Amino acid sequence: MPGAIPQHFIDELLARADIVEVIGRRVPLKKAGREFHACCPFHTEKTPSFTVSPAKQFYHCFGCGAHGTALGFLMEYDRLSFPEAVEELASSLGLEVPHEAAFEQGPDHRPLYDILDQAARHFALQLRQHPDAPQAIDYLRGRGVSGEVAATFRLGYAPPGWDNLLRALGTDDGRVRLLRDAGLITEQDGKRYDRLRERIIFPIRDTRGRVVGFGGRVLGDRKPKYLNSPETPVFHKGRELYGLYEARQADAHPQRLLVVEGYMDVVALAQFGISNAVATLGTATTPDHLEKLYRATPEVVFCFDGDRAGRDAAWKALNTALPLMRDGRQARFLFLPEGEDPDSLVRRIGAEALQAEITVAQPLSEFLFDKLAAQVDMHSLDGRARMAELARPLLEQLPTGMFREMMQQALYEHVGLKPPAGRVERPTGLTARPRVKRPQGTIPPIRRAVALLVQTPSLAILDIPAGWEGLDSPGIPLLQQLIQTVRANPEIHSAGLVEHWPEPETRKSLAKLAVLDLGILDDAAEQFLGTLRTLANEQRRSERDALLTKSRNSPLSEEEKQRLRELYRPLDL
Ligand code: UTP
Ligand code: MN
Repeated sequence: MPGAIPQHFIDELLARADIVEVIGRRVPLKKAGREFHACCPFHTEKTPSFTVSPAKQFYHCFGCGAHGTALGFLMEYDRLSFPEAVEELASSLGLEVPHEAAFEQGPDHRPLYDILDQAARHFALQLRQHPDAPQAIDYLRGRGVSGEVAATFRLGYAPPGWDNLLRALGTDDGRVRLLRDAGLITEQDGKRYDRLRERIIFPIRDTRGRVVGFGGRVLGDRKPKYLNSPETPVFHKGRELYGLYEARQADAHPQRLLVVEGYMDVVALAQFGISNAVATLGTATTPDHLEKLYRATPEVVFCFDGDRAGRDAAWKALNTALPLMRDGRQARFLFLPEGEDPDSLVRRIGAEALQAEITVAQPLSEFLFDKLAAQVDMHSLDGRARMAELARPLLEQLPTGMFREMMQQALYEHVGLKPPAGRVERPTGLTARPRVKRPQGTIPPIRRAVALLVQTPSLAILDIPAGWEGLDSPGIPLLQQLIQTVRANPEIHSAGLVEHWPEPETRKSLAKLAVLDLGILDDAAEQFLGTLRTLANEQRRSERDALLTKSRNSPLSEEEKQRLRELYRPLDL
């Protein structure tokens, strides 16, 4: 195990490397003033919004928000881990990466990898040669596994008998010890015997293709159905994913990876040409798993049973994923019909239909908000406030970035109010009214703002947040006039305010709003300000969308870019 890379070397590396050269070797860059432009390699676009700044040694995409240093770029684009990216950048500059002496020189695991590989070969050979092999081959055929797919996954067979492997590989004491350290034999009452017997063997490979462990399935209905290698110095269930190596052999940069539950799901999907599935090894998805997956792909689709247990497992996976959802990473959830797993489903509906299901799987955001919304009464103000409370700790888990901001905006839209963050001073003269029945459905924010103001004119004297006046809606000028009218006549009451309007049509609709059941009532001020902030956010979003649309057709001016950056900065929600 190499020691840590010293920080001073990383600093030096970044000082010496030229980001334009690093990116330019991978993406065609066009000079534009002091910067370089390109079509963003991290999302699909026709006109360039990806810029590289030699002065800042930074890249940034105005379309998808991707940004970073030369090292960051290598990690994302070449899908390298940090040490790998350092290696890559250093070797392109002809530098040798120094390693701080590791505290303890890690033991040499080569003999372990060696014996594991020999075992895999042994099992594969048994599948071809052992006298009992036909029953194993029949079993695999019966499950639709072809010889070709069996070879891709190096499937094997452990025939009946206590010591087949032990006799074949345990030729001396040292090798017996290795077999034991590799988790291939167990000892009981001073006796040693093969751990895997009379089973189909699934070798588990690490990302470099080395065999690190095995899964074994009984041919019939005996229990336990699957037996896995125990944790060993080279095998950690919480880190390895069955099928990841094979998936990357099929496609080094898959558009997405599917996370399924079982060995046979991975194999069956590959048999149907869906070779981007991986399985956790009988454990929940861990952060280590996810880091591995996102190093290989931008999108992870979790496949779970549609039943209660599956949904709970999915929620757990979502919680694990949240802190890792950097911009550019995506997660989706596919809930399978009850009683099906990917293996049975692909056989029943075929690869094409399953692929279609995968592409419309529920995005993480939707799953999150749906799940929370189901826990509260969304028709009530209290319920929506409760949802905001439930969501807050979850959204706080997200790394800062555009995705987090979009999730915060989405939450805001879902609940239609400002989460109870800062306290708002109430204007004098506002007395609590008795609680009234809550309205069904939600009232559009602009209508809500006007109604609140007509019902409680003194709200107009609050310190009103700006940024909503540019919205393109007929309610906006009305709201502005209402505010001005109240400010010019601070004593005015609802009826007076309505009567202030000469047009009978407007008077009529204001009168209606004056008696509209808003379902609140002791926090009208917070409600009003929150609604105005919702409107301001709507305006920001539409301005942002307009700029993004524009940027697709022509480069933005410096001012526009600056504005776009501001618009991506989160408001205090
Ligand atoms: P399942 O019980 O869902 O089996 O276990 P499966 O994958 O559908 O298996 P087939 O189709 O009957 O062959 C899912 C996963 O849970 C772990 C294994 O990793 C398995 O692939 N498992 C299951 C075990 O580790 N031990 C068991 O006894 C059962
Ligand atoms: Mn199954």
